Amino acid sequence: MRELSGLTALVTGASRGIGVYIARALAREKMQLALAARSAAELNALAAELSGQGVRAQAFVADVAAPESAAELVERVGASWDPSTSWSTTPASSSRRPSTRRRSRTWSA
Ligand SMILES: NC(=O)c1ccc[n+]([C@@H]2O[C@H](COP(=O)([O-])OP(=O)(O)OC[C@H]3O[C@@H](n4cnc5c(N)ncnc54)[C@H](OP(=O)(O)O)[C@@H]3O)[C@@H](O)[C@H]2O)c1
Repeated sequence: MRELSGLTALVTGASRGIGVYIARALAREKMQLALAARSAAELNALAAELSGQGVRAQAFVADVAAPESAAELVERVGASWDPSTSWSTTPASSSRRPSTRRRSRTWSA
C-alpha cells in the first residue's frame, strides 16, 4: 500500500454513515482530511474528533448534488489547502453522487 501520510483526502458524505468510517480510517493513515456534506454540526464534530487525534481535519459544508456546487467545493478546498497535495472523493448519496473527482499526481482512490 502506498504511503498516505501527509496527503490530503476530500471525503464527501462525511457527516454520517460510510463517509465517517472512511474519514476515521484515513485519519489512522495520518492523512489530512477535508470533510464535506450539508450538515455542519456533524462535520464539525468529526473534524474536532479527528483534530483531537493530531490529524488536520476541516469541515466544508456543501451540497454536491449539482455539478457547479461540487466544483465550488473543490475550489474552496483548493483555496484552503495546499494544492500540491493529493485528494479524492467518496460517494455521498445513492441517488445523486458527487460529480467532482480530481486526479492526484501521486495517489487516488
Ligand atoms: N450503507 C451501505 O451498506 C452501503 C453499501 C454499499 C454502497 N453504499 C453507498 O455508499 C454511499 C453512502 O452510504 P451511507 O450508508 O453512508 O449513506 P448515508 O448514511 O445516507 O450518508 C450519506 C452521506 O452523504 C451526504 N450527502 C447526501 N446527499 C448529499 C448532497 N447532496 N451534498 C452533500 N452531501 C450529501 C450525507 O450528508 P448530509 O445529509 O449532511 O449532506 C451523508 O454524509 C451511498 O451512495 C450508498 O448507496 C452504502
